[in-house]
Amino acid sequence: MIGSANGRRIGITGLGVHVPDRVFTNKDLEQFVDTTDEWIVERTGIRERRFARDDQALTDIARPAAVAALADAGVDAASVDLIIVATVTPDMMFPTSSAILADTLGMPDAAAYDLLAGCTGFMYGLAQAYGMLASGLSKRALVVGGDVLSKILDWTDRSTLVLFGDGAGAVVMEPVEQGGFLGFELGADGGGGENLWLPGSGSRHFANADKLAKMNGREVFKFATRVMVSSAENVLAECGRTVEDVDVYVPHQANKRIIDHAAGKLGFPAEKVVVNVDRYGNTSSGSIPLALADAAADGRLREGELVLMTGMGAGLTWGSALIEWTKGRAA
Ligand code: ACO
Repeated sequence: MIGSANGRRIGITGLGVHVPDRVFTNKDLEQFVDTTDEWIVERTGIRERRFARDDQALTDIARPAAVAALADAGVDAASVDLIIVATVTPDMMFPTSSAILADTLGMPDAAAYDLLAGCTGFMYGLAQAYGMLASGLSKRALVVGGDVLSKILDWTDRSTLVLFGDGAGAVVMEPVEQGGFLGFELGADGGGGENLWLPGSGSRHFANADKLAKMNGREVFKFATRVMVSSAENVLAECGRTVEDVDVYVPHQANKRIIDHAAGKLGFPAEKVVVNVDRYGNTSSGSIPLALADAAADGRLREGELVLMTGMGAGLTWGSALIEWTKGRAA
């Protein structure tokens, strides 16, 4: 799916993030699997990540992010009429994490649903909320992206354990006076799905399924380096913009080598690229909002700047969004 935003202007008016307190350095992981800090840094750029405690589930991580996003926008939870939670690690299949959050945050008028699109979930959530807002069906939306992948990791598998972390982010979306989203591109290739999968997590029966994530890292790497470039190029072309027009590039934080490859192929200088995979690892649906928050904290998300976000992940899926940053809500 690809398209430019030609309806009502819709933007992000609030942003909040949250990560669990527990820090696991690469050295800490050496007690679980046969790995080294040197290998992890060289192959991934990751130095540490956060893992939730045993008694913490997704909504415990996502709720503080949502509260922070609402405060950043300066709006009451009760005024939100749509909440979408993009995650592959909900508290449980039902009730949905979005319904739980709508209740605990105080959103009695909100439509609430969870969205499954792997690490690309947040990008899909942005596009869905855009559509609902641009059509006038929703007046104010909260899009949450977050995962606690530590709960579905095989703590004896070095090829996956070292890559991921837990974290969440949320954005308030609503009509804005200037700027806002310019376009989206979303895609999926289920044929490659088994390269990153969680057998035994649904209604299909698998013999001896252990409900832990499994990945063919080399295949996902090849897929990622391809779609991170093509998706960005596609959305830019659709919106009549070029790489030179983009002020801030926010790629999914899976692996520093994937980010460097995509940024290099697209032609982004390092100062335009947001990187925090060293501190958080791959937080799946939390990755792009966490990177946006770092860019905001650095003073890089200024009014009128063009921000390109591109994600990819399980499904296999990918997605990009182009937005002219603004916080000026429509009167
Ligand atoms: N520590 C030490 N050695 C390791 C580790 C580790 N943690 N993991 C793998 N190795 C070994 C392998 O066993 C292999 O050994 P061998 O040559 O004796 O067989 C060797 O290191 C090289 O393995 P490769 O898989 O070739 O290493 P590569 O350079 O491809 O890096 C990596 C592996 C980091 C997983 C890379 O392929 C990658 O980043 N893939 C993409 C992963 C990704 O982004 N996934 C998330 C997608 S988003 C989502 O939806 C969750």
